[in-house]
Amino acid sequence: MRLLALDRFTWRRIYWILLVFLVILITVWWQPNRTFPTGGSLARDSANPQQVKGAIQPIPLSVDLDVEKVALGEELFRDKRLSADNQVSCLSCHHFKRGGADRQTYSVGSGGVPGDINALTVFNAGFNFRFNWNGAYETLEDQIQATLQNPKAMGSQWNEVVEELQATPEYPKLFARAYADGLTAENIKDAIATYIKSLYTPNSRFDQYLKGDEQALTPDEKAGYQLFQDYGCISCHQGMNIGGNMFQRFGVIGDYFDPKDGITQADLGYYNVTKDEADRYVFRVPSLRNVALTAPYMHNGSVETLEEMVKIVAKAQLGRTLSEGDTDLIVQFLKTLTGEYLGGSLEKLALDSDDDITS
Ligand code: HEC
Ligand code: HEC
Repeated sequence: MRLLALDRFTWRRIYWILLVFLVILITVWWQPNRTFPTGGSLARDSANPQQVKGAIQPIPLSVDLDVEKVALGEELFRDKRLSADNQVSCLSCHHFKRGGADRQTYSVGSGGVPGDINALTVFNAGFNFRFNWNGAYETLEDQIQATLQNPKAMGSQWNEVVEELQATPEYPKLFARAYADGLTAENIKDAIATYIKSLYTPNSRFDQYLKGDEQALTPDEKAGYQLFQDYGCISCHQGMNIGGNMFQRFGVIGDYFDPKDGITQADLGYYNVTKDEADRYVFRVPSLRNVALTAPYMHNGSVETLEEMVKIVAKAQLGRTLSEGDTDLIVQFLKTLTGEYLGGSLEKLALDSDDDITS
């Protein structure tokens, strides 16, 4: 009897051990590819349509935000008093008629201080997982905190800005309405960050296509999207922003940056944040939404056209030399990523005359 009981006990133990072992085995086998995709894994990704399907999501038609904070954030975004020389507003470098950026190679900050990096667009920035080309900031508030003090942008001091706004007739009232503790540096950042989150651009033709409207894209544009998947662009440019959700080295296939040509501080990318050699030339993958409107391209603004950019990135990231035909189809696809802001086409806004850009 005793023997039998012991036997059953032993069997139960073996059973449990086997079960745990099986669960571990299944977990390991099931583990999705969590490492950053590299040139090598791309062919596998594109060979698996399931993986590509759903890799990009459309921008939502509306985002729930506090209307009062958005309105206040907009005032601040356009207000030149936020800069040291009272000549530069956020809008100066992030103009809506320029795709939310400034069409310069490098932006010029308050007092004419030259910048050293190309302006990113503020459109859809709220959907990025980190901020700036090198992903230095984890929140919009931290990004804004730095921008206000950065001599290459606003060049201001927080206490001075708070004082200056405090002395205006309108801001203390507006802040008191939106925030229990009124006008503070934290609330300035919060209001601007809320406003940035309102700058999303839904309803691009590509999003309409993603939602099932087959007619939204021409056959050539669809062919371009197919190439975007087949070449493996989508393994880096994916998610709601078609980018903006992972880090990648620029120059996956060989070195893109050549010391002979001179390497700037900005070229070092995420290395500037971590000082880890492995992060040299690592950047947050940029969003491709509205990319047709935000030339010049790359963090150093060195590339003038999308055609040139697509060829460069295919070579640097995938080791592929694209034909003129494939390049053209991919560019046609990229042009379908232009969305709408407050129901109006961003493209039309950008095509309008530049004359009335005064800020
Ligand atoms: C002098 C030009 C200039 C001004 C003024 C300026 N910016 Fe920028 N902005 C840039 C540049 C250049 C970058 C890219 C910086 C980098 O990656 O290092 C950038 C990046 C950003 C980003 C990050 C976008 C992303 O996807 O990561 C946000 C958000 C932003 N700016 C908001 C603002 C706000 C808000 C203001 C006003 C407080 C402002 N900017 C003022 C030039 C400017
Ligand atoms: C391994 C990841 C990776 C792959 C694959 C990849 N890209 Fe990129 N892409 C990046 C990174 C990182 C940058 C930013 C480079 C920089 O500024 O230094 C970038 C930049 C770009 C830009 C410029 C964006 C801007 O606003 O300046 C475009 C356009 C682009 N890629 C399109 C493509 C296309 C098309 C493909 C496929 C042929 C592709 N990418 C494949 C990572 C990738």
